[in-house]
Amino acid sequence: MVKKLSFFLNQNYGIDLTRYEESFIDKTISKRISSLNLLFDSDYIEHIKNNENEIEELTNSLHVNFSEFFRNQLTFSILESIIIPKLFETKKDNKELRVWSAACASGQEAYSMAISIHEFIQNNSIKQRFRIFASDISDNAIAQAKNGIFTEKEIERVTLKRLSLYFTKEGQKFSINPSLKENIDFSKFDLISDPNFCPPASIYGNFDLIFCCNILFYYTTESKKIIIDKLTRCLDKTGYIIVGDTERDFLKGLGFKEIIEHSCIFTK
Ligand SMILES: C[S@@+](CC[C@H](N)C(=O)[O-])C[C@H]1O[C@@H](n2cnc3c(N)ncnc32)[C@H](O)[C@@H]1O
Repeated sequence: MVKKLSFFLNQNYGIDLTRYEESFIDKTISKRISSLNLLFDSDYIEHIKNNENEIEELTNSLHVNFSEFFRNQLTFSILESIIIPKLFETKKDNKELRVWSAACASGQEAYSMAISIHEFIQNNSIKQRFRIFASDISDNAIAQAKNGIFTEKEIERVTLKRLSLYFTKEGQKFSINPSLKENIDFSKFDLISDPNFCPPASIYGNFDLIFCCNILFYYTTESKKIIIDKLTRCLDKTGYIIVGDTERDFLKGLGFKEIIEHSCIFTK
C-alpha cells in the first residue's frame, strides 16, 4: 500500500515519501486512515482522489511541529555559559554573529536563542550585532513563527524575568516584542530538495551556530546525510551544529565531535 501511495503522491503532487523513515510513514498513514474511519488501506488513495484537502492534512501530519522555548536546558546553558561568549570573543571587525535555526517550527528555538544572545550582549556591553535566519518546510509553521504569539502553556519554560523583558501580554496570550523580532528572518526552506542549494541567507557568510533539532529522526539515513551535508557547507570553520538528544549518535557516526558529552553541540 505504501509503495502504491508513494508512487501516486509523487506522480500527482510531487510528494516524496521515500525520504522518510519507513516506520514513521507507516504510523502517520495508519493514523490518517483510522481518523478518516476508512475500512481498507486501499480506500485511502480513493479518498485523496475525491478530497484534495487530504493532501494538506497528510503533509501537516508529516511535519510534526511540536517545539518548546529553551527545549534542551543543558544545551542552552552550555550555549549561554561557553559558546556565545567564545563566539563573540573571536568575532573581529564588528562582524555579526550568525545563527540558523534550520527546522524552526513556530519559532520557539529562534526566539530562545535571540533571548540568550540579547542578554549576553546587554550584560557585557557588546557592540557586535547578531542575526538569526530561521526556516522550516511548513508554511503554517512559518506563519505562526512570524506572528510570534504564544499561549500560556507554550511559554511555561520562559522565566518571569525574560517574560517581562521580551514579551507583551495581550489578553490570554504572549507576544514577542518587536525589538527582539527585528533580529530574526523567517522563511520557508526545504532542507532536502535540491541538495546543492544552500539557504539564500548564506550568501552573506557562513553560520556560527546551526540548530537542526528534532527533525533528523523522521528521515532515512540517506536523507539525514543530505541534510547534514547541506548544514556543513553553510557552517563557519569555527562554528557549531546543534541537534536533538536522540540525534547525537548520528552526528558522532559521521565523525562530528560533541564538545561536552550530552550537550548536543557539535563541531566538524
Ligand atoms: C519537531 S519540530 C522541531 C522544532 C525545533 N527544531 C525544536 O527542536 O523544538 C520539526 C520541524 O521540522 C520541520 N521539517 C520537517 N522536514 C523538513 C525539511 N525537509 N526541511 C525543513 N524543515 C523540515 C517540520 O515542519 C517541523 O516544524
